[in-house]
Parts: sequence; structure tokens; C-alpha cells
Amino acid sequence: MLAVQVSLAGSPPSRYLPAMPLLLGVNIDHIATLRQARYAQNPSAPNAEPCPIQASHDALAGGADALTIHVRGDRRHMQDADAYRIRAEVPLPLNLEMAVTEEMVGIALKLKPDFVCLVPENRLEITTEGGLNVLANFDKTRMVIARLQDAGIHVSVFIDPDLKQVEAAGEACADMIELHTGAFANATDDHAQAELDRLIAAAKEGHPSVKVNAGHGINYTNLARILTIPHLSELNIGHSIIARSTRVGLTTAVREMKELMAAYNS
Ligand code: PXP
Repeated sequence: MLAVQVSLAGSPPSRYLPAMPLLLGVNIDHIATLRQARYAQNPSAPNAEPCPIQASHDALAGGADALTIHVRGDRRHMQDADAYRIRAEVPLPLNLEMAVTEEMVGIALKLKPDFVCLVPENRLEITTEGGLNVLANFDKTRMVIARLQDAGIHVSVFIDPDLKQVEAAGEACADMIELHTGAFANATDDHAQAELDRLIAAAKEGHPSVKVNAGHGINYTNLARILTIPHLSELNIGHSIIARSTRVGLTTAVREMKELMAAYNS
């Protein structure tokens, strides 16, 4: 196992601690997206497939460190019943992505996921488009973070790699930030390095006061550049893994991603 040398205040300078591996949260929303395409009227029907619970077990078998689900206000993919079953039946940490609404706070307090990631939600978007504007919605965000933390839930905020948003997330007492990697993933070659530089700067700004995660648009190809971002704790990846699973199965798709992530050296 890799070891890093750390110097702790008040401790002798040579204490060795194992380096933390980069964790993978597998977003399985698209399994529910596919089910809803056919069974939106009755997602609990015995013949409704594919099954998010089965997919969760497959992700676990491939080495997923956590599951990520987004219960959206419009319930376009994950249903409340999916969330409760996954929580009850799958022995993996659960990360609930949710909008900053009273309805979702109520669900989170009942579901008690290990983590919540606060995200903006726009009814017309295909997927989460931008980061949460913590700065502009500071009081509300701070209050929701505190209510969730009081229930023992660790809270992350999904933000653009903007230093002011990173600072606001810290001031709002978020435990973690998840840096939105979508602009990098969608950038043409000319702009990709500039977007990556923004992510690197944001990660440096956040560390060590908040844990730094990243997600959105990460795939098997652009991962190599994502791994140049320092201080990352966890990546949340959905679309590319589910797309790959149509060729190799979900367990193998997750395992392949984990193998690539093992090269990370924070
Ligand atoms: N992180 C957050 C906060 C998201 O909203 C999403 C998309 O649901 C993801 C990560 C995963 O993004 P992708 O499906 O592009 O891998």
C-alpha cells in the first residue's frame, strides 16, 4: 500500500499514514431512466425493468464505493420507493442528490442517506446543468446544510469551479464540495486546459477545509486529465458507466473505471 509522510502538529515529523484511495460513487439514475421510458405509469410493476436495486448490487460487485441517486422534483427517473429500497437493501454508502427544497429535505430526513449533495434543479434541463449558486442563496443553503447535519448526514454542495463559490460553501459549513466537471468535459481541445486549470484552482482553494469531490461528464477517456486535479476524495460518475455497461455489463464497467482511478496520486 502507498504511504505518505505527514507531519502532524505536536507529533514527531515522521508518521506514516496510508494514502486514501480515490473513491467512486456510481450514479445509477439512468437505470431508472430506462425503466421509466417504458413503465412510468407503474414503476413498481413486477415486470418493470431494469431494476435500480439489482443495478446497485452489480455496482457493488464491481467495486463501487458508494451509490449516488438523484430524486428529482419531477421524479423523471428515481422514485421515492427506489431510494428507500436501495437504502434498506444495499450495503453501500448512499449519496442523495437533491434540490434545496422543503420536500427534498423531508425525504432526506426520512431516508437518512450517508451523504446529501445539494444541486440546482431546473425542470427543463436534461441533466444538472450548472453548479449551485451558494453565494446568491447563502442563508437558505446554510440552513438546509445545518438541518441535514443535525440528522447526522454529511453534506456536499455541487458547485462550479469558482473560487467565490468554494469560499461560500466553506462559510455555509458544507462538509464537502463536488466540483462540476461538465464545462471541462464539454470543452473543445482549445478550452479544456483552461477548464481543468479552474478545477485545479478550486480544489486547492477548498482543501483542506472541505473534502473535494468531482463529477459530471467524466468518462473513461477524460478521466486521465481529471486525475491531475489535486486533493480529490471521490468522483461521482453515471452516464459513461451506464453507457459502457450496455457493452460489458455494469459490474465490469464499474470495475474498469475503478482500475483507471487507481492511478490517482493526490
Ligand atoms: N454529480 C452530480 C451532482 C450530478 O448531478 C450528476 C448527474 O446526475 C453526476 C455527478 C453524474 O454525471 P454523469 O452522469 O455525467 O457522470
